[in-house]
Amino acid sequence: MRSGVGHAAAVLALAGLLTATPSQTAVAGDPVVAARRASMKEMAAAAKAIAEMFDGKRAYDPAAFKAAANALSARTGPALIAEFPVGTLGAPSGAKPEIDQARPEFEALASHIGRLAEALAAKAEEAPAAIGDDMRMGTGLPMDGGSLLGKRPNAAAADPARMPAEHLLHLILQDCASCHSKFRQRQQ
Ligand code: HEC
Repeated sequence: MRSGVGHAAAVLALAGLLTATPSQTAVAGDPVVAARRASMKEMAAAAKAIAEMFDGKRAYDPAAFKAAANALSARTGPALIAEFPVGTLGAPSGAKPEIDQARPEFEALASHIGRLAEALAAKAEEAPAAIGDDMRMGTGLPMDGGSLLGKRPNAAAADPARMPAEHLLHLILQDCASCHSKFRQRQQ
């Protein structure tokens, strides 16, 4: 009886090796998967809160803006990367197994959104009592492509610290979408 079980296990292990690598696949109810989904939902709530404040759909509140920006910053960058370890990718999770073959690209996206969120959190730290024009999109950037101060036209665009908060939010949302279109799949 014991040897029979051992044999079946050996066959399964062999079959596993010949098809997928079982150790790299998520299992149902994995706490790591549950934690990163909860984290993603909190990012979605935070991004929505900020977007609605800028759109006038929710009352602007500097403390709430700050809390939401900090939530985004805390969950992106290295924290986001750490939420996708080997062994938690693929079905039944919504994380594509390809993340493992494209680590540099995945991590670059996580780091990029992390820098944007960090810049947004720094701005929120000094958020005024009311939304100012300098927080709005389309301000602070040399839209005419020229420069009165002799700086390179794209210098402001390349430095998140110099972008208006609303512009940072839009770039953050673009990174959410870029990563999802490449690395997220339908959950099972
Ligand atoms: C670097 C990649 C990456 C970035 C950036 C990213 N996500 Fe995700 N997100 C994922 C992956 C992968 C999943 C699937 C996770 C799983 O099911 O295990 C996911 C899942 C989600 C989910 C579904 C959670 C659930 O309950 O199943 C939401 C909501 C979400 N992301 C929102 C966001 C928002 C909002 C942002 C930007 C502020 C964002 N994500 C940025 C990769 C990313």
